[in-house]
Amino acid sequence: MAIRNIIQFDDAFLSKKSRDVVVFDKRLWQLLDDMAQTMYAAEGVGLAAPQVGILRKAVVIDVGDGLVELINPVITEKEGVQVGAEGCLSYPGESGLVERPFMVKVSAYDRNGKRITLTAEALFARAVCHEIDHLNGVVFKNVAQRMLAPDEIK
Ligand code: CO
Repeated sequence: MAIRNIIQFDDAFLSKKSRDVVVFDKRLWQLLDDMAQTMYAAEGVGLAAPQVGILRKAVVIDVGDGLVELINPVITEKEGVQVGAEGCLSYPGESGLVERPFMVKVSAYDRNGKRITLTAEALFARAVCHEIDHLNGVVFKNVAQRMLAPDEIK
């Protein structure tokens, strides 16, 4: 495993759309392992492949309940609303108020290409939406109600 470089403040690159993963091989597993290590090293709760320069639909998330890997994730249902502060490892020091669904259901694949579904709520749902946005070239600043001033950030 290796810590990869996180692309920071590069709006042009981070607005690119990622493509589906079509081959579930050792190279994908290496990417996922590296992404998890990179996320933990940076003390983040989620990381999308484009943030390490790979325009493929792969994300890792850990909001404290263990590592979740999602390949080609699609939100199939959403319910409720939550508004809260959100940041991003690609924009350290910045935070914005973002409205997200309180609950999302997701269809995706695991690292072996097996179809999986999951239900996420609260912070987990927020992280899922944030990371899937990355795959579509959307960063939290694009969808924030407003950015927070430095003295508003905990
Ligand atoms: Co992010």
